[in-house]
Amino acid sequence: KTLDDVSDLNGKTALVRVDFNVPVENGRITDDTRLKVALPTIKKLLDKGATVALLAHFDRPKGKVVPEMSLGFVAPALSALLGQDVAFAGSLDQRYAGPARVVLYENVRFHPGEEKNDAGFARQLAALGDIYVNDAFSAAHRAHASTEGVAHLIPAYAGESMRRELTALDAALGNPQRPTLGIVGGSKVSTKLDLLKNLVSKLDYLAIGGGMANTFLFAQGYDVGGSLCEKDLKDTALEIMAAASEADCRLLLPLDVVVAQEFKANAANRTEDIGSPLTDADKIFDAGPRTVDELCKIMAGAKTLIWNGPLGVFELPPFDAATVAAAKFAAEQTRSGKLVAVAGGGDTVAALNHAGVTDDMTFVSTAGGAFLEWMEGKVLPGVAALEA
Ligand code: 3PG
Repeated sequence: KTLDDVSDLNGKTALVRVDFNVPVENGRITDDTRLKVALPTIKKLLDKGATVALLAHFDRPKGKVVPEMSLGFVAPALSALLGQDVAFAGSLDQRYAGPARVVLYENVRFHPGEEKNDAGFARQLAALGDIYVNDAFSAAHRAHASTEGVAHLIPAYAGESMRRELTALDAALGNPQRPTLGIVGGSKVSTKLDLLKNLVSKLDYLAIGGGMANTFLFAQGYDVGGSLCEKDLKDTALEIMAAASEADCRLLLPLDVVVAQEFKANAANRTEDIGSPLTDADKIFDAGPRTVDELCKIMAGAKTLIWNGPLGVFELPPFDAATVAAAKFAAEQTRSGKLVAVAGGGDTVAALNHAGVTDDMTFVSTAGGAFLEWMEGKVLPGVAALEA
């Protein structure tokens, strides 16, 4: 159920789970995307006459009151974006009764019952509202009281951001237009095993980049020099390759690589075809131009792209070249209506921002861990609770 299924909320309080776990440096919010994505839900509920009571977590205080992890700093930032008063309520013990129509409660993770999904704590939360709205897709992989337990206690709805995330993810992997292409990068295979296994069973093409590609190259007998490589996962990499071929998913592994001996920006580097001998001092930091050409050729014929993880060490130019070229090509294809491109998880958004193409993607998820678990094919408890 979505907010379109809710009618008049005059005199009622909508308890809304948002994800305000925002990046902060020296007390300043460095990226307020997660505040901005909550605005449509808040505005829609206000338009329907509700008082909006926001629940959120910040960081990992582990059930204790940690003053530095208070959510108090978010209320004024949200108020500025919303253009109206946002009160801050330090206690979750009772309903806010002040004049503001929007209230943000203190970090739910200050309570030990939150992460335990304690029934008593969920009841305490449920008493704070008449309906529950989950607008925090990025926290939906957590079966916590504010993301799961409370949804069973009062009428529960998906908020606007949650709905947009689920629609986009469905278009990317649930019910996509084919051919489908996945790009998965990042440093380690070990953190993305389930994800790779799920993707090869679903996609037509899968490009593997970043440090994790080295493990695949090594498994095939290629020299990876002194590169990051999980040699103990050789058999696992071979199993994933076999599963891909069984499922008719074509894997694209690097055809050429950019190698350097120093881990720093603008380090002296050279491009080598895979199979060339490398020394122990040589480290692979990016995919080479032939690989990018091949990837773009596949992308040109694809209708759907799902992207998680950079293709190289994009933080250190020129090792951002493959990621930036692929991102720009994806943006071009998406702008011309040929491609539905959905991206998310961890470093991906930072990589797309670096390439300057975040706004050109069809959808960029605000989620890190939740996006990965969803790509693994897992049921997210926060989403399942809304469907129950
Ligand atoms: C996130 O930032 O990805 C979410 O808010 C979840 O946070 P968590 O990993 O601390 O549960």
